[in-house]
Amino acid sequence: MKIAMIGTGYVGLVSGVCFSDFGHDVVCVDTSSEKIAKLNAGEVPIYEPGLDTVMARNFAAGRLRFSTDTAAAVDGADAVFIAVGTPTRRGDGHADLTYLMAAAEDVARALTGYAVVVTKSTVPVGTNRRVADLLQLTRPDADFDVASNPEFLREGAAIEDFMKPDRVVIGVETDRAKKVMGEIYRPLFLRDFPITYTDLESAELIKYAANAFLATKISFINEIAALCERVGANVKSVAKGMGMDGRIGNKFLHAGPGYGGSCFPKDTSALARIGQEHGIPMRITEAVILVNDAVKRRMLDKVMDLCDGAVNGKQILVLGVTFKPNTDDMREAPALTIVPALVGAGAKVRIVDPQGKREGEALLPGASWHEDPYEAAADAEAIIILTEWNEFRALDLSRLAGAMASPKMADLRNIYDEAEAVAAGFTAYVSVGR
Ligand code: UDX
Repeated sequence: MKIAMIGTGYVGLVSGVCFSDFGHDVVCVDTSSEKIAKLNAGEVPIYEPGLDTVMARNFAAGRLRFSTDTAAAVDGADAVFIAVGTPTRRGDGHADLTYLMAAAEDVARALTGYAVVVTKSTVPVGTNRRVADLLQLTRPDADFDVASNPEFLREGAAIEDFMKPDRVVIGVETDRAKKVMGEIYRPLFLRDFPITYTDLESAELIKYAANAFLATKISFINEIAALCERVGANVKSVAKGMGMDGRIGNKFLHAGPGYGGSCFPKDTSALARIGQEHGIPMRITEAVILVNDAVKRRMLDKVMDLCDGAVNGKQILVLGVTFKPNTDDMREAPALTIVPALVGAGAKVRIVDPQGKREGEALLPGASWHEDPYEAAADAEAIIILTEWNEFRALDLSRLAGAMASPKMADLRNIYDEAEAVAAGFTAYVSVGR
């Protein structure tokens, strides 16, 4: 199959690279010539484990190309995937479809033979029909179908998620388009992964419903964590006991400093907007968003309490600032709430993060960046663990405590426990829901 992938952001690049690994002929297109030049030089613009290897392999085999030329990429393609950004619009929580519609119009002008125009970006219900109308209006003579093919990959595990998905969702309404989509994903079906074909609206909604549900599990356990602290329960035990019920499941029940990233915050607020627009308020999702905002502030209170209510002039070491491990992504990371508040209150914040500096430096002004946790702990009055990178899971706590001016720890990912922290010399240890 010949595939054009419009947009080389996270989803576009990973999908394009993986489709080429299936054996398809893929051209990835982006409007940024700088980005395309880097990709053609073999440079991967994001940190995603394994992506560089798969990209190099398929680039060398000639199945994967990068270009700024939409027309050339679309010419003769069996399927054109649109995977441009749909950020939250400032002010109203809507998904901003400017890039998507602009890309669709470019694609329409470039269509030659029959092609399926597939939306991979996460888009509000009804968007695929709007795309179809726009294509029709721009090119009444064109022969095309539209399809919705939402992507569920997790950052840090994107290749694995793409190659071994829990499911592939395809919203499609003609047999001709279904056949093309089936052919594209055929390498997966050979290994028997479930695929579900739906109408366009259902495919669009599955993505929002799935992400909002996962975010609900997180906000739920974070709220239970606050209650655990008040009543003297342990949220890890509670989550374990809940999760043993197969209907609930043990995943996404880790209490922490709140969810972040490019999907949950954006998709929950978009779903809330979609509900409002259609007169069906998404009350649970709205509560999930409020709880998540409150969790981040609650974490700040925790840190302030640990520091006896004042951080002015104090050296504080923050371990991990990306929204989760194995990514350099800082979008909506809890660190963006906590670090500026500490800096604003006069703390001297030091940061250690294996990948966060490139994006984080500009976002967290006033903090200093360090490589080694033990060196950075020198004279610190508190350590805050914000992201559970593997590098922070087996720290020598005695060595850390020994380096600090006053050994106190806020372990906001529940990596350690109080007994071991105290045994290592920490005079105060707080975590979440324990
Ligand atoms: C998510 C979905 O998992 C994926 O299917 C979708 O396509 C995009 O959004 P991602 O944002 O990459 O993927 O990360 P994920 O691993 O799901 O974590 C999201 C956030 O939730 C992180 O901030 C993480 O720390 C937090 N989280 C996750 C918790 O706080 N507790 C948990 O139990 C799980």
